[in-house]
Amino acid sequence: MNVNGAHFRTIWLHPDDTAVIQIIDQRHLPHQFIIENLTTVAEMARAIRDMHVRGAGLIGAAAGFGMYLAALAAPRDGFLAHTLTAAQELKATRPTAVNLAWAVARQLKVLDGAPPEQRIQTALNTAQAIADEDADFCRRIGEHGVSLLADISRRKNGEPVNILTHCNAGWLAFVDHGSATAPIYVAHDQGIAVHVWVDETRPRNQGARLTAWELGQHGVPHTVIADNAGGHLMQRGLVDIVLTGTDRTTYTGDVGNKIGTYLKALAAHDNDVPFYTALPSSSFDWQIEDGVRQIPVEQRDAAEVRMIQGLHDGEIKQVLLTPPDSPAVNYAFDVTPSRLVTGLITERGICPASAEGVLGLFPEKRKG
Ligand code: MRU
Repeated sequence: MNVNGAHFRTIWLHPDDTAVIQIIDQRHLPHQFIIENLTTVAEMARAIRDMHVRGAGLIGAAAGFGMYLAALAAPRDGFLAHTLTAAQELKATRPTAVNLAWAVARQLKVLDGAPPEQRIQTALNTAQAIADEDADFCRRIGEHGVSLLADISRRKNGEPVNILTHCNAGWLAFVDHGSATAPIYVAHDQGIAVHVWVDETRPRNQGARLTAWELGQHGVPHTVIADNAGGHLMQRGLVDIVLTGTDRTTYTGDVGNKIGTYLKALAAHDNDVPFYTALPSSSFDWQIEDGVRQIPVEQRDAAEVRMIQGLHDGEIKQVLLTPPDSPAVNYAFDVTPSRLVTGLITERGICPASAEGVLGLFPEKRKG
């Protein structure tokens, strides 16, 4: 995707040093564009935990490269034990996005079978494959999802299609293209008029900071709104479709996503606004059926609720919002039950949010 006209991915191998992974440190966006070098598993784990990188697909790609860094540092004797420890360290960073455990498991499986002299190259190839696949699947999500926006545009005789999105399921949350934003970028590039309502997405404001920035970089018309505005806009007929991403979706169609998504789905349901979730297959949980009960919901530091970050006098500052002694709690995700989800947009096409719909697109995942 474009940053001031230049193409970037969110994570890549340093072009001159194969022992270094480079990332865009998202903590500083939109005010500063900073590239960070990572050379150890501990640094990669910290980058995931403290959200230098975030978003389901990118967390998976970061874990893939983290396992490569582990392979580089592992002794020849005890290689697998070393990589198993690294796997635990990476998996412990963030619990909700299923891509993390998926990428680590994929690396462990290939490393277990690789001849000792080829392990490092195998780990690098696998990390690159995870990243390339993520970008390619998101590109395909865009190609499938654009049909939804084109249909609405036709119905509105070319008037702008108003899309509401929550949090950041854009290219910053993946390796490239994004999931929820991919159809929007394709539509915009095809000349379909679109306008995006960007939920600010408290407490970390991934919408206001990241989605608004990347849409702006691509020239997509957008407006940032307070999280609480969505229901009102839907009642007024100002939202044609809700498009979100997901950190973990059960194969039965329950959608785990950034806190507040469930409320948007309820409002969409009440106002007959279609609610779609876009995801690469790496974000499906093929094991659990009941997302509301079984998707692990991360609780983060309450300071993220009590404080807010912004630019003041040219410097990024944190300020306190609450009385100093008021306790706060920070649930980072919620789960939208499948009955509120109109459909899922995947790299293989669009399907109903149900086991039948999902397994129809991914028949190899049927059990028994
Ligand atoms: O806590 P984050 O920023 O890692 O959360 C991820 C998100 O940005 C959203 O939940 C997103 O919609 C799904 S990730 C593609």
